[in-house]
Amino acid sequence: MITVAGVGPGGKEYLTEKVAFIVQKADIVAGWNHALKVIEGVIQGEKIQFTSHEKEEETIAYLAQEARKGKKCIICTVGDPNFSDYQLLEKTRKYDEIEIVPGISSVQVAASLAQVSLEHTYFITFHKSGSIEGEKEELLEGIQKGKNLILLPRPYDFMPQDIANFLIEHGVNASLKVTIFENLTFKDERKIKTTIGELGGKFSDLSIIVIKASK
Ligand SMILES: C[S@@+](CC[C@H](N)C(=O)[O-])C[C@H]1O[C@@H](n2cnc3c(N)ncnc32)[C@H](O)[C@@H]1O
Repeated sequence: MITVAGVGPGGKEYLTEKVAFIVQKADIVAGWNHALKVIEGVIQGEKIQFTSHEKEEETIAYLAQEARKGKKCIICTVGDPNFSDYQLLEKTRKYDEIEIVPGISSVQVAASLAQVSLEHTYFITFHKSGSIEGEKEELLEGIQKGKNLILLPRPYDFMPQDIANFLIEHGVNASLKVTIFENLTFKDERKIKTTIGELGGKFSDLSIIVIKASK
């Protein structure tokens, strides 16, 4: 069994005691750089950083092999594994059974700051490999229905500016208000309130867009 654990959005105070405990006890801890940075200083076993999707797949196969020998193997993800990490979970399930230990998602932090309830919100992630055409349709549908929307852009080909351009090209009013939350829970956290017509500039790969339904 491989454990997949969420380390929170980045700020160390958002790492749960439970996840810190199991990371400390693990024989092997793997993940992408953003996740491993949160738990540096906690890891005591072997650490493996994913540097490409090939390395990710190769490491998962290795973890499954070591887990079968009785080693405690953990893959750490940023935030919570059930928010926009579906493809990683599916890849891991191909090799072994998984156990998921939740973390605090960046989406929860953005929802709290924007004060939107998830049950009244469409959550759409573009942060995936492959086609995002279905997600783009969901976005237009959400706008038409006047829903709150929480969007995860895709670094770096469908970033906030691209999302705004896409909406305008599809007839959405340029005065639609959006808030971009960047680097949440880090010292350089930013909140930018603008409209899709005025949205410009570069954003980090850690950005979330919130569009609140107009009442
Ligand atoms: C592959 S998704 C994983 C999301 C993660 N499982 C979660 O629950 O936060 C990565 C995306 O999450 C968002 N994200 C993660 N951490 C963030 C942070 N600290 N601030 C803003 N956005 C963040 C960004 O949109 C980023 O591109």
